[in-house]
Amino acid sequence: MTAVQPTGEPPTDLEIETLGEELPLLEGIRTTRAIRRLRPDPVPPELIRKVVEAGTFAPSGGNRQPWFFIAVTDAERRAFIADHYRRAFEMYIAPAVKAAQDPSYPDDKRRNMRAAIHLAENLHEVPVLLFVAGWMRRGQEQSQALFPAIMNVLLACRAVGLGASLTTVHRMYQLEIDDYLGLPERIPSSAMLPIGWPVGRYGKPRRKPVEQVLCYDRFNPGLISSD
Ligand SMILES: Cc1cc2nc3c(=O)[nH]c(=O)nc-3n(C[C@H](O)[C@H](O)[C@H](O)COP(=O)(O)O)c2cc1C
Repeated sequence: MTAVQPTGEPPTDLEIETLGEELPLLEGIRTTRAIRRLRPDPVPPELIRKVVEAGTFAPSGGNRQPWFFIAVTDAERRAFIADHYRRAFEMYIAPAVKAAQDPSYPDDKRRNMRAAIHLAENLHEVPVLLFVAGWMRRGQEQSQALFPAIMNVLLACRAVGLGASLTTVHRMYQLEIDDYLGLPERIPSSAMLPIGWPVGRYGKPRRKPVEQVLCYDRFNPGLISSD
């Protein structure tokens, strides 16, 4: 079976139903990476519905399904969010930018940082900013109850050929942003997934070999490395 290759071309309504259904699950998992260079072209609402529906198939404690998804597509609203994200991101990335002045800073980290900066600088042009929010429980935010759903959405984006990444730095301005989104205090946002048609392609992200992280029956301290 061949994998669906992201073409970047918007599909017709008819194509959306079958789009992404052929991609083998494990191949999709191994080739889902953060795609932060996105085109400004709109994403059809039916496709947003499809990737969010994948999110709703995630497990949750007591099957409470505490999640809500807010797909921000209005240009003015995206600009407000992008402005806050950028301010938060500048603080977050500053130490990495400083460290990257050292020529020995690893290339892959440098590429990742540049892509993250590109996203922050162009966030207002990303067609969909998908917020994932969830019910608090016993007075506590339940981010962990949302992350399986978030991962499902990221995998579904990969399957249908949309580019996406997981971000959380907007939470530095969580009160302002949640208020702007109309979220009640009991349902705070945990993550924001910028989604659009990718400029680049999906491919295997750089990861440690599994042998460096897997052991049986008892932790192997020999797995601990300096980085
Ligand atoms: C919990 C969490 C929060 C993250 N928040 C952000 C963020 O706010 N902004 C950002 O650019 N990347 C953020 N990232 C990192 C990227 O989403 C991505 O996972 C990372 O750069 C690795 O990219 P790769 O999968 O292509 O290797 C976050 C990752 C995680 C797991």
